[in-house]
Amino acid sequence: MATPSMEDYLEKIYKLTVKKGYARVTDVAEQLNVNPSSVTKMIQKLDYNAYLFYEKYRGFSLTEEGLKLGERLAKRHKLLEDFLRLIGVEEENIYKDVEGIEHYLSKNSVLCIEKLVKFFFENKDIKEQFQTALKFVKE
Ligand code: FE2
Repeated sequence: MATPSMEDYLEKIYKLTVKKGYARVTDVAEQLNVNPSSVTKMIQKLDYNAYLFYEKYRGFSLTEEGLKLGERLAKRHKLLEDFLRLIGVEEENIYKDVEGIEHYLSKNSVLCIEKLVKFFFENKDIKEQFQTALKFVKE
């Protein structure tokens, strides 16, 4: 099982891989705002856990397993962003809040949120009613 911070690294590596075909230590470090040495350490840990190949001096790429998990993590992140946006969370809070909660939800909760988001996306009129009604709920 991947730990929360392993999930963060994998998600980032996956997104870089999809975008550029590869991921480099420097890019991952820059995007996660950490030292390159922390990235190298985590990559070795992930390598040990079979999510990616680490080739000294050449960089690294994801295994089949790493790609699968990375894709799942990226989808979960996107789903939670959609969810927070749906319930009216302000744009400036969305990314940070998703980063804060994404690792701590059970599969069950993620599945329920997925159904809710899907329901609203398939029923735009109800979505609009809901979002309008939210504006009148007192804080
Ligand atoms: Fe994330």
